[in-house]
Amino acid sequence: MKKYKMAKNRFEVYNKKVLKHFTNPKNYGKIENPDGVGEVGNKVCGDVMKVYIKVDKEKIKEVKFQTFGCIAAIASSDVLCEIVKGKTIEQAKKIKNKDIVEKLKSLPSIKLHCSVLGVSALKKALENYEKNKNY
Ligand code: FES
Repeated sequence: MKKYKMAKNRFEVYNKKVLKHFTNPKNYGKIENPDGVGEVGNKVCGDVMKVYIKVDKEKIKEVKFQTFGCIAAIASSDVLCEIVKGKTIEQAKKIKNKDIVEKLKSLPSIKLHCSVLGVSALKKALENYEKNKNY
């Protein structure tokens, strides 16, 4: 019979970088009067993610998130904000889930769905920005 090493606690399955972003997320919060907002729910777990963007001359100058998600969702979204800040709208549209996981170095495979939340909410925030801009 195969033996599996069990994690002693839920934190043990995450690397240091993930835990750093989870315990001290620099981009958690709300932007007042954002230029775009996106909100999505995770079908797997039911958690919710909201991303706010502030845009200046087609560049994202500020980005924040709020979530009721787990450790992986918080860490992924914090890293997403780091990646997005300073990007043009077109560059931000190209950000993929794998960019987040690469920057975090790794996520437990069972938690990969959590890292999709931020990217999906960002896409909605970008759509919302473009819709607002055209009015
Ligand atoms: Fe819901 Fe991770 S378990 S976002």
